[in-house]
Amino acid sequence: MTSAFFKTGDDFEKVQAARPDFRRDADVTFSKPPKPDWKQGEGANDDGESLKKNHVEIDPHEEGRPVSSNYKILISGMVPRPIALISTKSKDGKSANLAPFSYSQVINHDPPLFVVGFVGSLEKAKDTLKNLAETEECVINIISEHFVEAANATAVNAPYGVSEWEISGLHQAPSSVVQPARVQESILSIEGKLVETKEFESRTTPGKKTGVLAIIEGVRFWAREDAINEDRSVIDLKVLKPISRLGGIQYGRTTDAIEIPRPQF
Ligand SMILES: Cc1cc2nc3c(=O)[nH]c(=O)nc-3n(C[C@H](O)[C@H](O)[C@H](O)COP(=O)(O)O)c2cc1C
Repeated sequence: MTSAFFKTGDDFEKVQAARPDFRRDADVTFSKPPKPDWKQGEGANDDGESLKKNHVEIDPHEEGRPVSSNYKILISGMVPRPIALISTKSKDGKSANLAPFSYSQVINHDPPLFVVGFVGSLEKAKDTLKNLAETEECVINIISEHFVEAANATAVNAPYGVSEWEISGLHQAPSSVVQPARVQESILSIEGKLVETKEFESRTTPGKKTGVLAIIEGVRFWAREDAINEDRSVIDLKVLKPISRLGGIQYGRTTDAIEIPRPQF
């Protein structure tokens, strides 16, 4: 039961109650990679086991396939994903918004660039996207284990203008070059300015806008003192304790790591 994951229709409370308590003291440990003596050309490390398995081909737009099946296969298969907990402000400065987005990634460091994918259109934009498009500012906060429940609470579909800050109980800390606050509990926050947005159209319902990509440039980093090294270049994984998004309602911890040197030709 403890290894089973929740499926729609299950009694979630019952599934959760059967699980062991969260191991708060679980530290990041490093083990050897699966095959430390791996040599060039050796391929997989499973003695050919994976070559005995078959694949099924899926056309994402095949007749009768619901769009939700593409959502589910992508969010359960493209894992783990970092989560950008994004803080924005309305154009009139009156309301603050906070919400998590896992269609998110860093894509460059000079300049520091980040992408975020918003489901839906610019016209019916989620509050975060509306604010980001109108003010061109945000703060991307990285989620750690010590505030995972509060971060999850910010995904509530609160009406525009209702602040998820109070719902979550998280604290606002002043930013330096953008208006939205950063999350004080966060180990790493990035003040960002919008570079551009690109809207995408549905393949199943042509003409309907169903996704928006935002490219954001990082203009300030805020790193917690005890997580950053002396020359301010490396975040300590053991302090960061990042939370990632997996499929369904699953989140992942990063407590088991391996190191493999980069190959030289
Ligand atoms: C962990 C997590 C990750 C999410 N990632 C995304 C995402 O990448 N894109 C998206 O459109 N919605 C995503 N959502 C849903 C939004 O957080 C949700 O729609 C939220 O209500 C948006 O808030 P807003 O309208 O205040 O911007 C995610 C939800 C959770 C819990």
